[in-house]
Amino acid sequence: MSTCRQVAARMVAPGKGVLAADESIGTMSARLTTAGVEPTPENRRAYREMLAATPGLADGVSGIIFCDETLHQRFADGRPFADAVRALGILPGIKVDAGAKACPGLPGEKITEGLDGLVERLAGYAELGAAFAKWRAVITITDELPTAAGIRANAHALARYAAACQEAGIVPIVEPEVLMDGTHSLRRCAEVTARVHAAVVAELAALSVDPAGIVLKPNMVIEGADHPERSAPEQVAEATVDVLSALPTDLAGVAFLSGGQPPERATANLAAMQVHRTPWPVTFSFGRALVDPALAAWAGDPARVADGQAALAERVAANAAAVRRRAELQPA
Ligand code: G3H
Repeated sequence: MSTCRQVAARMVAPGKGVLAADESIGTMSARLTTAGVEPTPENRRAYREMLAATPGLADGVSGIIFCDETLHQRFADGRPFADAVRALGILPGIKVDAGAKACPGLPGEKITEGLDGLVERLAGYAELGAAFAKWRAVITITDELPTAAGIRANAHALARYAAACQEAGIVPIVEPEVLMDGTHSLRRCAEVTARVHAAVVAELAALSVDPAGIVLKPNMVIEGADHPERSAPEQVAEATVDVLSALPTDLAGVAFLSGGQPPERATANLAAMQVHRTPWPVTFSFGRALVDPALAAWAGDPARVADGQAALAERVAANAAAVRRRAELQPA
């Protein structure tokens, strides 16, 4: 089995998911400021060390996604982040995209940048110990959007990235995110997500990306944040699994983003997915739904590191328990 296949299988191993702690410097700084913490490189480092050093984290977390800044930083004891988390039994990952920017020619739509020089950067990240990578494409829903061209451009970039990762021996997390922003219905989200997945699958195949050596990180199929109603977990799960059923059966696994859902809702939706039979594991790769409570509890106070870690551990345990339901509900 190829290295990518082995690592991807480890990332979605039973009862485990991936922690997304890869906010860009700008996003992380804004979140620290909101939490009352000065947005310095040292505070961003201390925050990521607080998360990664959570006792028992490896029980429910197979990998942590970091950003470039963190991968070049060190734990307080001097070990580089990648070495320190590997020693804890956790795979280090790296966000390699350069962010979603306004797409020329497609008003209102975004294209994720970062392909230029990617092959060289991946080689550098492999040297630093990265086992996997992440690239996030964002798709906005309005009455007119997304366009077929916007979907195709983003799917193509995801495939270029994924192919480069596999050639570098790094597992690509392929993240086509249909945003929750807006008033759209769950049904409209399902329709758009299905179109996006079809384009991504076609582009991945065109560049000979091995499905068993990637982890797909999609949005759940859910109504827009400003839609007047809230779907029940069973409705989200049914609609999501229905859309995912078009994916290749040999995919290593699916690990959802949380997309701005409240932490408990994301967990309940993930738990409801486990009732459905899928050819691949269905787990979490949450950012905000895991780390928001931890950031609030820590608030930059060295005396509250244990509080932040307890908050993270609680969310990880809840999500790990949700995905462990699969083994109970669907014995091999
Ligand atoms: O790119 C986004 C993150 O990897 C997932 O973040 O769970 O807060 O949506 P989220």
